[in-house]
Amino acid sequence: MDSKELNKIAAAALCAGIAFFAADEIGAVLATVRRPIEPAFAIAVPDAARAVPPIADRLRTASAARGEAYAAVQCSACHSFAAGGPVIVGPDLYGVAGAAVASQTGYDYSEALQRVGGRWTAARLDGWLTRPASFAAGTKMGFGGIADPATRADTVAYLLTLSGPVRPAAIAATPAAATAALPPPSPEQVKAGEQIAEAQCSACHSFDKGGSAMIGPNLYGVVGRPIAGDGSYGYSAALSAHHGPWTVAALDDWLLKPQAFAPGTKMGYPGLASDTDRTAVIAYLRSLSDPR
Ligand code: HEC
Ligand code: HEC
Repeated sequence: MDSKELNKIAAAALCAGIAFFAADEIGAVLATVRRPIEPAFAIAVPDAARAVPPIADRLRTASAARGEAYAAVQCSACHSFAAGGPVIVGPDLYGVAGAAVASQTGYDYSEALQRVGGRWTAARLDGWLTRPASFAAGTKMGFGGIADPATRADTVAYLLTLSGPVRPAAIAATPAAATAALPPPSPEQVKAGEQIAEAQCSACHSFDKGGSAMIGPNLYGVVGRPIAGDGSYGYSAALSAHHGPWTVAALDDWLLKPQAFAPGTKMGYPGLASDTDRTAVIAYLRSLSDPR
């Protein structure tokens, strides 16, 4: 097979990947028909963080070929990318997009990565590659991360071409990925998350123990609670269709784009695109529980 043909195959696979993730976009467009409530007051978000468009948008202009070239330089000392390729320092990455996290055959993953649960969606690959050590504290992937959002998108685009037909990246959380074993978030993250939540979520949610439902359910103790699990609140069928607990990973997918996570959800909030902000809000949510 010549390289032109390979390019065509890569392009076709990338299109399939984009079409798959574009479904998220359609949901987002529908979601914006109902205008989200404006934050009550502005909070300081670094411009760089605010400016990063969601991965689904960046994938439209991403290049799998650029990603492949980048990966050859930055990743190939540790990863093979061919079907049935060998373990080097890390696992073979063929088919990783859409696969369960830490599930490549023949590789001995860190507990940190095994605890993450769920599947490698484009959004999660993007989050992981931003800073592996933040995504899964304690991971043994000795790689600092890809700071440039466009390069990250190129790399994700390349990984999407390595899956054959892109597998449905079911976002469902797994019970095994409960958050109990995660290290506690830093007080700074909790504080930053509280400020974001106050500005962006408190019009619809209360956060205090025993607080009443507003437009959305009370969020005290939501981390680890079954999805749509507050018996006193009337959830949409869309959210109720999800099973399993609110893990950190599931919350991250949800808050990135509620309409993509649960198309038809009645949470009229477009999502929190900044990885840093989502991490902070989730840190805050984790702080809202009784000591165990
Ligand atoms: C210094 C070696 C090293 C480099 C460089 C490196 N990785 Fe990794 N990678 C690892 C190791 C080790 C793991 C397993 C992590 C664990 O178990 O905690 C891993 C895991 C992963 C996983 C998760 C695999 C799974 O099955 O869940 C992905 C995706 C990944 N790496 C992508 C990349 C990409 C893309 C690059 C380049 C931009 C890269 N890595 C660079 C060592 C590396
Ligand atoms: C415009 C109102 C609104 C805003 C703003 C909003 N939410 Fe919601 N939220 C809802 C509604 C309504 C639901 C119930 C969704 C359903 O049943 O489909 C919900 C559900 C949730 C759930 C699931 C709770 C459960 O018990 O399963 C979480 C977690 C959540 N929101 C977090 C947040 C966070 C964090 C923010 C801010 C970053 C936020 N929400 C902003 C209205 C809102």
